[in-house]
Amino acid sequence: MNIVEKAAEKLKTLQPERPLPPPVEETMSRHTPHTVERLQERMRVAEPESAAAPAAPPWHVDERALQRAGLLPGEDEAGGRLADEVRRVKRPLLDNANSKGAKPITHGRRIVVTSAVPGEGKTLTAMNLALSLAREPDFEVLLVDADIPKSDITRVLGLQEHAGLMEVLADERRRPTDVIVRTDVPNLLVVPAGKRHPLTAELFGGRRMQYVLEELGGHDRRRLLVFDSSPLLATPESPILASHMGQVLMVVGAGRTRQHEVAQALEGLGESQYVGLILNMSRLPAIENHYYSHYSHYSHYQFQDR
Ligand SMILES: Nc1ncnc2c1ncn2[C@@H]1O[C@H](COP(=O)(O)OP(=O)(O)O)[C@@H](O)[C@H]1O
Ligand SMILES: [Mg+2]
Repeated sequence: MNIVEKAAEKLKTLQPERPLPPPVEETMSRHTPHTVERLQERMRVAEPESAAAPAAPPWHVDERALQRAGLLPGEDEAGGRLADEVRRVKRPLLDNANSKGAKPITHGRRIVVTSAVPGEGKTLTAMNLALSLAREPDFEVLLVDADIPKSDITRVLGLQEHAGLMEVLADERRRPTDVIVRTDVPNLLVVPAGKRHPLTAELFGGRRMQYVLEELGGHDRRRLLVFDSSPLLATPESPILASHMGQVLMVVGAGRTRQHEVAQALEGLGESQYVGLILNMSRLPAIENHYYSHYSHYSHYQFQDR
């Protein structure tokens, strides 16, 4: 039995697949606020926008700042190689988002980039993937900085002062769509992380998170959501975030992450999710490790010799 199967077995024992429906009163009390939220949202959307409020100009994405931060390669050969790798990574993700993958995936338009431990290349991958997906003619991309303790995307894009994911999770009066920042990169939108919050894990696991994710997803099938995440083994919110996703890209820093850490991180993922593995920063000429062969995707970055 491979690790994913084991994890699925474990999940089954922990959470019955189809729990009995709760009593009607409970259903009412659980759903009513949600319904109210939606009605309020609709009313707000129906209200005419203040004619005096001009649309903010698109936020400038400073590619040089991204390069200086090591999140974007230069336009040399190494950069070209990374771009090709990312192209390979995005194909199956797009197929899954379009329901053309091998199996149907719920929330296939939600993609999280994660890893077992820090420093494995999550933010680099999330950034390059989002930029690459934004070049697809039929999609727009919402890049969400969901690494709350180490919000590098927010910082490097200069969005530290903007309200973000945490504000809309913590404050029921805020509209999730208000924290979406349009950028000057065509088809790229960003949601900054926002301020740190002591109850991040609770907020990620709360009912409002589902509502926020639905709203951020837009009601347009063209929108893909790419989440940069904290490491699965480092914060309690990271596995919770992953559980909301249809697709999970797991970055493995070759030579730095121990196999048992990768295994432990994968254990929490559900069988119904697409799990892609990326071996990053590898100097290995070829991979002959069956451990990886269980997973749907495998890629091998080498954009820079480290
Ligand atoms: N393939 C790579 N080639 C060169 N540098 C890389 C590569 N992947 C990651 N890095 C660098 O390693 C550091 C950690 O990457 P980052 O994406 O911030 O990791 P994480 O988000 O997982 O903590 C960054 O300085 C980044 O530029
Ligand atoms: Mg990061």
